[in-house]
Amino acid sequence: MKIMSIAGARPNFMKLAAIASAVNTFNKKHSHSGHSGINHIIVHTGQHYDTKMSEGFFEELDIPLPDINLNVGSGTHAIQTAEIMKKFEPILLEKQPDVLLVVGDVNSTIACTLVASKIIYPNNLTKKRPVIAHVEAGLRSFDKDMPEEINRILTDALSDLFFVTEQSGVKNLKLEGIEQNKIFHVGNVMIDTLLKNLQKAEKASIRQQLNVAKHYALITLHRPSNVDTQENLTRLVQCVLDITKWIDVVFPLHPRTECNLEKFQLKQQLQQNNRIFLCPPLRYIDFLSLMSSSTLVVTDSGGIQEETTFLQVPCVTLRSSTERPVTVSEGSNYLTGTNTNKILETIDSILKGHGKKSTIPNNWDGKASDRIIDIIWNTVKRSTT
Ligand code: UD1
Repeated sequence: MKIMSIAGARPNFMKLAAIASAVNTFNKKHSHSGHSGINHIIVHTGQHYDTKMSEGFFEELDIPLPDINLNVGSGTHAIQTAEIMKKFEPILLEKQPDVLLVVGDVNSTIACTLVASKIIYPNNLTKKRPVIAHVEAGLRSFDKDMPEEINRILTDALSDLFFVTEQSGVKNLKLEGIEQNKIFHVGNVMIDTLLKNLQKAEKASIRQQLNVAKHYALITLHRPSNVDTQENLTRLVQCVLDITKWIDVVFPLHPRTECNLEKFQLKQQLQQNNRIFLCPPLRYIDFLSLMSSSTLVVTDSGGIQEETTFLQVPCVTLRSSTERPVTVSEGSNYLTGTNTNKILETIDSILKGHGKKSTIPNNWDGKASDRIIDIIWNTVKRSTT
């Protein structure tokens, strides 16, 4: 069986690491069973391209190097999506995988899904197009101003197999008319990667290297709605400065955020505060290390809400909705939106020890990617034999 996995932007790589490792385990386990196992082809779209946003993760997480890199780079949504589609179509026609596996909700995810859904393999009597498997299916923020929400809805509309991280995903997909037998609540592949690397992270010395105190808040910001306008970014920068009244802040800068901090002349204020530790995007192990030993995390990321829930570290999410509601209902996540008072009140309450008790969601046990590969093997094999 030929499975082609797509990865393009930073959060995809941690998910791909778990999938690649599960394929390996599967092939080893079945090496004596007489079938030729799974041929895993990795396509990197090049949506993210800086070493710190891409290449570094392959090395660190032991992901086989991509078989193909489309090198699309940055652009508007339309340009980036179109470029990926143009460059991906000939690859799909040539390789003709049985399964196209896409993860998450970035532009690379929808671009490749859209190509695969309409492709017709030439000279192929056994299959017309690949089975499209979406990992992290069914998540909905119900906020169509988020580009990722559009990507999620469209990817699910075109997928054939749906691998879900939390119960809300099952519910959303059913409401959208997806048949129950195509939906699999397998758990969370990002947590597979986290679990595999947690021991290494606990030994990392990034906190000491940055010279940060034992108690600190870890902050990440990169959502266009938070960092692309001067008004919003100025308000959030003031909020970060306010947090330093209580605690040190470590703030790795996403390229989008760094660029806008410079454009709106906000970076200097952060640099001049000696309780703020700015740094470039971090390697996975270093970031995990900082996250797991932080007092709290402040973020607008999707994946970090899940990672902190698993680590049971309080997470203050600067968004008014989340596509990952289990992190709020069961996990350690608080949705504050971007209202400064609400953010500061929540942080104050956490620092005073009034944070909520959290639990780890069902199936977030490090085995999601093994389940996915087993399910793909069994369902796709069955339908092609
Ligand atoms: C993308 C994803 C978002 C994900 C985020 C993680 C979409 C719609 N968005 O957003 O869901 O949470 O990745 O990082 O797919 N840049 C660099 N180097 C790089 C990559 C980007 O400098 O390697 C800069 C470019 O100026 C680019 C900007 O960052 O224009 C934004 O990159 P882009 O991939 O368009 O979106 P992200 O904000 O990273």
